[in-house]
Amino acid sequence: MTPTGCFIDGKWRETLRRFPVTDPATGELLAEVADAGPGDGAVALDAAVAAQDAWAATPPKERAGVLRRAREELLSRGEEFALLITREMGKPLAESRAEVSYAADFLQWFAEEAVRVSGEYRMSPGGDFRVITTRQPVGPCLLISPWNFPLAMITRKIGPALAAGCTALVKPAEDTPLSCLLLAQVLADVGLPPGVVNVLPTSRPAPLVEPLLADPRLRKLSFTGSTEVGRSLLAQASGNVLRTSMELGGNAPFLVFADADLEAAVQGAMLAKLRNGGQSCVAANRFLVEEPVAEEFAALLAERMSRVRLAPGTDPASELGPLINTVQRDRVAGLVDDAVSRGARALTGGAAHGAFFPATVLADVPASARVNQEEIFGPVAPISTFSGEKTALAMANDTGSGLVAYLYTASLDRAVRVAERLETGMVGLNRGLVSNAAAPFGGIKQSGLGREGGFEGISEYLSTKYLALDTAP
Ligand code: SIN
Repeated sequence: MTPTGCFIDGKWRETLRRFPVTDPATGELLAEVADAGPGDGAVALDAAVAAQDAWAATPPKERAGVLRRAREELLSRGEEFALLITREMGKPLAESRAEVSYAADFLQWFAEEAVRVSGEYRMSPGGDFRVITTRQPVGPCLLISPWNFPLAMITRKIGPALAAGCTALVKPAEDTPLSCLLLAQVLADVGLPPGVVNVLPTSRPAPLVEPLLADPRLRKLSFTGSTEVGRSLLAQASGNVLRTSMELGGNAPFLVFADADLEAAVQGAMLAKLRNGGQSCVAANRFLVEEPVAEEFAALLAERMSRVRLAPGTDPASELGPLINTVQRDRVAGLVDDAVSRGARALTGGAAHGAFFPATVLADVPASARVNQEEIFGPVAPISTFSGEKTALAMANDTGSGLVAYLYTASLDRAVRVAERLETGMVGLNRGLVSNAAAPFGGIKQSGLGREGGFEGISEYLSTKYLALDTAP
């Protein structure tokens, strides 16, 4: 039932080559998917360019209607999507269901935003003309999405692009293209005109993406993925001075002060660490705990983590699925081994089981350990200690990343003081989850540019045009 071709100009198109998509839990082949190359990219861009003016001129209410109908269809086929996400990405079914609902929220939010794009009308300071502003769609966009949320990261980009009146080329991640392809079929089923969204799965991203970024008809790039790839795409996008949105890597500190409600902090830690098996850019990466409560926090967290059930995501009892692939599994294992070789102690977990890596807690982790410096993208919680607010902030901010931080304290004064000094785009205050379609998601420093979701999300796909209207007497 799931389409496996390229989706271009409203039609499914075959390619000369195909690439395999496998279940990370079992290695089973799920599908052979069309492998788009530069020729397919060129045809897709032609289609997006041809559809751009008509889509921009489509009344906002009609664009909103497509998004609304897509949301309804997505939810009515929720179990099909959830199973597909679990099969191609590995997360437990309960989490895939939550992802379907998160994905649908972006369609709803941006359907609501589509009719609220506004401008200004004001008098110039000298009174001799009027300043009028309007906001127009930026034009055809290239949307590159990651494997960790194969559906929600697509609707988080497609939603605002379509709401703003932009057409799009979507390149889903090689590991997880199937959810995106099924979404393309849903969009077609609910009446999205041909050419407005085109989907290009590929196992060879560079030869597909490079010519698209060099084509002056493309006007915007939105990318979610690693900082390393983001940097390279930014360099390529500079050729045509493209509008860019970059959701890049994180290295989130999770701060627990001695006055915190430890039970709540552990619950928040479980969510911030284990959502998506830790394979998320907002996953808590470094646990920084104030000395007097460090031992108790570590023991409580280790006890909870040791009870997490490791099983294929399709098993209803699964609480933690496999890592996305063996490369990522070996990377996570390497980070744990490095920490242990520098004196860290594994309180629970610590070694891979086949494609799986168990929930792991490491205590006494020195600052020099790679696990504190690199984005883990796995279910490993390294704990270090601090003494006092100043040291906590210095440790938390000692990273090139600036996506999110989590902070547990009973003091409102401290919460505000520390949150304002944390060098991140988002802060979870006594809360282990910040992601929501209605909130501006994004980072500072090397974690990216721009915001997705919230009121800001649609602005990324709009350009402000200013009209000077002469009113001189
Ligand atoms: C991401 O990991 O890229 C995004 C996660 C989220 O939206 O919560």
